[in-house]
Amino acid sequence: MKRPTSSSLSYILPALSLSFVPPGVFGKPISRTTKCTQAQHPGPSNPSFETGDLTGWQVLSGTAFGNSSVTALTSYWGGPFNQKGKYFVDSFVASGDPAIGQLRSESFRASSYLSFLIGGGYDPVNLYVGLVRDSDGALLVSQTGMNDEALIRIIWDTSAWAGQNVHLLVYDNNSGSSWAHINIDDVRTGCNALQDDNGLTFTVFGEANQPATGSSPSCNLYAADVVRPQYHYTPYQGWINDPAGLIQWNGQHHLFSQFYPDAPLWGPMHWSHATSPDAVHWAELPAALYPPYPNNPQDTSGRWTGSAVNDSQNRLHLVFTDFTDLAFHPGATEQVVSTATSSDGTSYSLYPQNPVIGTVPPNSGNGFRDPKVFHDPTDNSWKLVVGSGDGSQGKVHLYRSTDLLSWTYVGVLFEGDGFTGSMWECPNFFPVGNKWVLFYGGRSLGWFEVGTYNGTSFTSETRGLLDAGPDSYAMQWYQDAAGRNLAITWLGNWPTSKWPSRLNGWAGQQSITRELFIRPDGGLGSRPIPELASLEQSGNAKSWTQKTVGDTAIVLGHTTTARLRLTVDVPSASATSFSIRLFSSSAEFVLVSYNFATRILTLDTSNAGYGQTGQWQPVVVPGSDGKLSLDIFLDRSTLEIFSSDGVVTSARVYPRYQESQDITIEASGHIVFDSISLTPLGSSWC
Ligand SMILES: *[C@@H]1O[C@H](CO)[C@@H](O)[C@H](O)[C@H]1NC(C)=O
Ligand SMILES: *[C@@H]1O[C@H](CO)[C@@H](O)[C@H](O)[C@H]1NC(C)=O
Ligand SMILES: *[C@@H]1O[C@H](CO)[C@@H](O)[C@H](O)[C@H]1NC(C)=O
Ligand SMILES: *[C@@H]1O[C@H](CO)[C@@H](O)[C@H](O)[C@H]1NC(C)=O
Repeated sequence: MKRPTSSSLSYILPALSLSFVPPGVFGKPISRTTKCTQAQHPGPSNPSFETGDLTGWQVLSGTAFGNSSVTALTSYWGGPFNQKGKYFVDSFVASGDPAIGQLRSESFRASSYLSFLIGGGYDPVNLYVGLVRDSDGALLVSQTGMNDEALIRIIWDTSAWAGQNVHLLVYDNNSGSSWAHINIDDVRTGCNALQDDNGLTFTVFGEANQPATGSSPSCNLYAADVVRPQYHYTPYQGWINDPAGLIQWNGQHHLFSQFYPDAPLWGPMHWSHATSPDAVHWAELPAALYPPYPNNPQDTSGRWTGSAVNDSQNRLHLVFTDFTDLAFHPGATEQVVSTATSSDGTSYSLYPQNPVIGTVPPNSGNGFRDPKVFHDPTDNSWKLVVGSGDGSQGKVHLYRSTDLLSWTYVGVLFEGDGFTGSMWECPNFFPVGNKWVLFYGGRSLGWFEVGTYNGTSFTSETRGLLDAGPDSYAMQWYQDAAGRNLAITWLGNWPTSKWPSRLNGWAGQQSITRELFIRPDGGLGSRPIPELASLEQSGNAKSWTQKTVGDTAIVLGHTTTARLRLTVDVPSASATSFSIRLFSSSAEFVLVSYNFATRILTLDTSNAGYGQTGQWQPVVVPGSDGKLSLDIFLDRSTLEIFSSDGVVTSARVYPRYQESQDITIEASGHIVFDSISLTPLGSSWC
């Protein structure tokens, strides 16, 4: 295992052209509340390409840009482009992805701020919009895309160069065949750079707004990024996916994540590592596992998802998938099970005789990964489940061990009928009361099965989704020292291209810690752990009892980092439905509504800004006492909605405007809510 060096944890943003001007010179990050009072000069002509061609702009080289790269297309495979006006520039449309070229604007005098819309590929070196100073050709600041076509606004503080002659450079030197183009529209300068024509203030995006210094994450560093969740685990830079190795060990909760530090994209997998005394407040530790061939970033061999147990020597013992990139290592076994141990919980040693499972069992052609170790009370041994599939149905294999090193294949614990996918990942298996719960990822969704287990084989009785929203995958379970069944899930909508936080250098986050339980209907339910109350800033809480809500919207508050709870007595409600708007302004909102007749809870992000749009509609049932409660966690770009019946619905949201913070409620008809409360929440990093 490659040991950490200081550079691998220095939290420097991906190597981008900011090296031309040290970040410190760039001035302070633009905050959510920045007001424009400074220098204003006219920007370049044809700033939004509304002439329908490149009038005022100059092609410096290549074929990627030309009059035909100005386009009026309104949508692509992933949704609308969201251009301003009719036209924008897309370096794909003229000559395709492989074409390269450079386009520059007219020279203009820098104002205090500059903003523009960007879309296209992520490649900080070869694909960007840059600001170049005329006098010396210095690239002052630049921004790459996020591997999505839809346009998102970047804002730069250019006050350090106010009055100097500058121009914009649109640079495409990526000749690849995928995400090798860049889109730009609507260049705005001065005070107009901060506000839209509707008077609303743009959300601040862009790598230039990320403080790049600091040796480890701090709450100030995290607070500076206005789309970064404050009490959900995120990587300060780079990419995370599956949570792994969840355990409470020597008192501390350990959270590892699949991690690629060098870009906000999947890559050669590391394990990031954080610990918490309460599963709420996190401290970042050095990465625990490193990919085996770090000197070649093209080689995607890495340490994939796995689990952690406390072994007989009181060590933290990690069991994980070792993935080998066959393009670079032909003839290797692609996915095997390996192990690493730590006595102090911080530094990990690979077992010299890895792998501990080096042979893939029969009918596993679609993969063999994500071992989850558990202690099996039926025969008092260690067991391990691992995901697999044969191309038509997913399955879970079962292994047995007494020493965590020598594993015996028991057989197929459970296999599907194809409905939940042809390959299952991230299986977890554990008892709850007199039932056993199996869950896994398949068909891009997280599924649970509740049933019975006889020591070798599982029989399912109830199946359902672990999360009813669009953004949960790869949930991992663990039992804490108090015997609770806890879980954390990755909140990343990976089947889509909507990852706006890439513009700020990071992608992916973990959910809050959830407690799992068997619901009255036999399904698996989730609820937030009580420790989350420690984040509550109760002095600023608002609460109402016996609150009447009708068809005039009531503003409950104005924030994006809070917990909203409400309880309604369903039999006594005369309304047909109620609806809550979150992240709301005159321009956009997230809609959460409940229909009493159909018992459908609707999460609707159709008008919710830059993220994924859609509707998700779980059935949510009142308790036997007729009460229905919602416990809603908002965290800047994250929403987790817990219903009292155990259904949870999660989504990422990225408002376009800073004003989009209203929380309102209304009903069709009249409802008297038993209680409503809105409590601001603090940071997990402070
Ligand atoms: C774009 O079209 C205009 C008007 O026909 C023409 O003057 C200009 O040279 C063209 N620019 C490029 C880059 O082809
Ligand atoms: C463009 O990329 C190529 C490598 O693909 C490199 O050789 C060349 O120097 C780059 N061009 C510029 C202007 O940096
Ligand atoms: C780990 O397991 C050992 C016995 O195998 C036990 O003595 C120790 O208390 C356990 N430690 C923790 C942190 O659970
Ligand atoms: C467990 O159930 C499976 C499937 O019904 C059966 O084949 C197996 O013999 C059972 N094992 C035990 C120990 O009862």
